Amino acid sequence: MPLLINGQSHALDADPQMPLLWALRDELGLTGTKFGCGIAACGACTVEVDGAAVRSCVMPVGSLAGKAIRTIEGAPDRTVAALQAAWVQHQTPQCGYCQSGMILAAAALLRQKPRPSDADIDAAITNLCRCGTYQRIRAAIHSAAQALQGSRA
Ligand code: FES
Ligand code: FES
Repeated sequence: MPLLINGQSHALDADPQMPLLWALRDELGLTGTKFGCGIAACGACTVEVDGAAVRSCVMPVGSLAGKAIRTIEGAPDRTVAALQAAWVQHQTPQCGYCQSGMILAAAALLRQKPRPSDADIDAAITNLCRCGTYQRIRAAIHSAAQALQGSRA
């Protein structure tokens, strides 16, 4: 089946029930998306599907025909680029394991809500960070939101 990942079509010969995370990491070598829990609880495996945050460990590849999948390896669009710059500015990661999922969850949030409040961020991003970088993640999302608003003006 064809999968559209980061703007490129990939032919995948796999059981349609295979979780997207397995396809990304084991079949296609895109290991920037991380395995944490495998039960949709931690968010380490978050990617964007048609601009929405999706936990790829529970998303069967058979349900993704014709959908645009973005992983952390994709060329950043302006939203992801603003987030990555803000992540650097705030020195957000600690060990880094959760951070690709965090950035893509943040991207999906900013596409829906360009100026999120702290409460919006907490409600939308339920990903877990064992290093406790939540404050820096919030600060970086606010910085990215500001930069994106500024560049629209
Ligand atoms: S690995 Fe998918 S939510 Fe934890
Ligand atoms: S930075 Fe280590 S788990 Fe989040």
